Amino acid sequence: MQTVQIKDKQFEIAIPAATIQQAVKTLAEKISSDLKDTEPIFVVVLNGAFMFASDLLKNISIPCEVSFVKLSSYHGTYSSGKVKELVGLQEDIKGRTVVIVEDIIDTGVTMEMLLHQILSKDPKEVKVASFFLKPEALKKNVPLDYIALRIPNDFIVGYGLDYDGFGRNLADVYSLKK
Ligand code: IMP
Ligand code: MG
Repeated sequence: MQTVQIKDKQFEIAIPAATIQQAVKTLAEKISSDLKDTEPIFVVVLNGAFMFASDLLKNISIPCEVSFVKLSSYHGTYSSGKVKELVGLQEDIKGRTVVIVEDIIDTGVTMEMLLHQILSKDPKEVKVASFFLKPEALKKNVPLDYIALRIPNDFIVGYGLDYDGFGRNLADVYSLKK
């Protein structure tokens, strides 16, 4: 069993790179076909989605734009919860088809916040593309338009995902050793 040590924790291989690449290709073909007449703008959520976005966009075969955003660490209040502000989106997305590109949807809290921020800019429609989804952890009712892989509720690293900042560079995905 292939394992990696990241800081104080041991991880074991869960999803090999070849499986990931196949899943990305399948998803990119579906998105290219569904959105072929829309000239979508892909809004990539940094940091985690950088690797997925790179592989995904190389396999998108329709005219499109790509932009990058981050969620600020600023906490204001929005309804009952805490909200982080969307930073970096310079493009005017009014009337556009937007595809949010995320690494993972866990509880769905982050995606819900993102959707709220993006919808306030008056796009024509918003689609959600996330490489991973943990269905057992999901608490929010967010659209799940394009999900590459559904995974168990375990902590993972690699393919853009980190443990305390490390492990994002790994081409395979590893899960915390039990
Ligand atoms: P959510 O708001 O609970 O859906 O969490 C989404 C964010 O939590 C993701 O964008 C990741 O940054 C992080 N996250 C969730 N699960 C994992 C994991 O298994 N490994 C690393 N980061 C994760
Ligand atoms: Mg993230």
